[in-house]
Formats: sequence, C-alpha cells, structure tokens
Amino acid sequence: MLVLRDKRAMQEHAGEQRRAGRRLGLVPTMGALHAGHLSLLGLARPGCDQVVASIFVNPLQFGPGEDLERYPRDLQGDVRQLEAAGCDLVFAPEAADMYAPGASTRVEVHGLDAVLCGRSRPGHFVGVATVVAKLLHIVQPHVAVFGQKDAQQAILLRRMVRDLDWPVTLRFGPIWRDPDGLALSSRNVYLSAAERREALLLHEALQRARALVESGERRAETVRTAARQVLERGAHVRVDYFEAVEIETLQPLPLLAGRVLLAVAASVGKTRLIDNLLLEVRGDQVAEAELEA
Ligand code: PAJ
Repeated sequence: MLVLRDKRAMQEHAGEQRRAGRRLGLVPTMGALHAGHLSLLGLARPGCDQVVASIFVNPLQFGPGEDLERYPRDLQGDVRQLEAAGCDLVFAPEAADMYAPGASTRVEVHGLDAVLCGRSRPGHFVGVATVVAKLLHIVQPHVAVFGQKDAQQAILLRRMVRDLDWPVTLRFGPIWRDPDGLALSSRNVYLSAAERREALLLHEALQRARALVESGERRAETVRTAARQVLERGAHVRVDYFEAVEIETLQPLPLLAGRVLLAVAASVGKTRLIDNLLLEVRGDQVAEAELEA
C-alpha cells in the first residue's frame, strides 16, 4: 500500500492512473479509524481499480473552542488498518501543505449549511465543503464515498457535486454501530464509562421516535418531545437538537410524510455526538430508508 504525504505527488499519481484508464475510488476521513470508516472502503471498490483513503484532520472545519488540538490522531495505526482492509493508497497531507499561506477561497453550500449542526457550528460546513472540493481535485476520483452517520454532510456534499457539475459519483454507506446501538465515532474515545452509557440515549431517542411513527403518530412536535424526554434522562446530556427534516432541503417537517430524516445532536459531558435515522413514511407504512446518491 502506497502512502503519499505530498499533494502534488498525489495529484500526479492520480493523473497517471487516469491516463492509463484506471478508475479511482476515494474515502475521505479524518483518521482515528473504526469499522464504520473501513466499511466505506468496500463501497468504493466496485468498478474502481484503486481505492484511496485520505486522512486529514481539517483545521478549517473546527470552530474556536472545538476539539481540533485533542482530536485523536494515530497515523501508524490507521495505515495498518487500511492495509489490512485492502486499501491501495493512503493520502495523508500535512495542514501546511493543504492550505498555502493566504489561501482564501471557500466553498459555501447556501442554506444546507445553516441548519441542524450548522446552527451551533457556524463555518463548519464551509470547512467541510472546501476541503472535500480540494480532495476531489487532488485525488481526482471517479467515485467518492461518505457515511450516512454524517447525514447533513452527505446531503450537502451531494448538492455541491450537483451544483458544480463535478464528474464524480457519490456513494453513501449505512451507519455502523456498536452491538448496543451506539453509532461508531472517532469521538467515542473521549467518553468516560458513565458518559458512554448515557451516549446510548441518542440511539434510544431515535428508536423511541421511530416507534411512535410506526404506531401512527405523524405530528413532528409530539415525536420530538418524546425523543427529547428520552435524552433528558441523561444527567450529562445536553441536547443541541432533535429534528425531523425533509431529506433534500433539511427543513423541518411539521407532519411526517415521505422521506424523513430524524436527526439528533447532543453533548455528553464535553463530547458532542450526532446520530440519525432515515424513515420512509408512506400512508401508514413506515420503513427505514437509505440515503440515495
Ligand atoms: P470522519 O468523521 O473521519 O468521517 C469519515 C467518513 O466516515 C464520513 O463520510 C463519515 O460519515 C463516515 N463515518 C463516520 N462514522 C461512521 C459510522 N459509524 N458508520 C459509517 N460511516 C461512518 O466526516 C469527516 O471525517 C470529515 O468531515 C471529512 C468528510 C473527511 C472532511 O474533512
């Protein structure tokens, strides 16, 4: 497995591969890899000759007071895991190489970046869209894969790719969870044992909401209130939002119908966690759905 640290070397390699008619798949990550990240490699493989994983803790998407400095970093461990998972190439640039001094161009996906997590993390999605735009130019993949775990990010990047006519196909992967239901996240390592137990309330709140919808409830307010009550059982949990939104616009739905994203964000102690569930509500039929590319 090749490891490239230099963006010019990466771009040249990608150009050579493309000229030789070889297809590239990219899985962008910030490292501290877990089984959820690794599952995305498998989705990148079909129809691609080389699977590339990028590892870059992107300073542009962290706000002041967020966890940029203490974000878990383990390049050697990540490289070992990627090699074992059959990855062909790792692109792991340094922050100084990614952003030249004075770099001032930003990619903004209006509207989608101001709701849900964008409300409490201003600038976060500009940072995400800008770095993903750069990664797409550097790695030049035919396919790029993202997880539904970060549903708002996936939906916003899908819009960016459409709006800018990017010649790349996006694929989305389902959320990987621990056996008890907690969504895998690089940030779970921050949790104490007591916090880890309370972190499970995000999943439980989503399941409570789902049960209500399955029993026929369609009023978003009722569903949200019930889900919040579950979250409020946690002494260390501070709810940021629990929302039911329309899947394309991420705007709140007063009545649940069609493809509904139930999304939750909460801090458990000092750790901010997110989770979500996508439901397809048709008349009295309710089924879990997948994010479509
Ligand atoms: P990171 O949080 O490292 O996540 C990398 C990819 O893994 C994302 O597409 C994310 O949705 C996916 N992922 C995370 N947890 C997952 C889980 N439990 N199951 C399945 N997939 C999961 O998201 C980012 O990095 C960054 O914002 C990035 C896109 C790399 C831009 O900097």
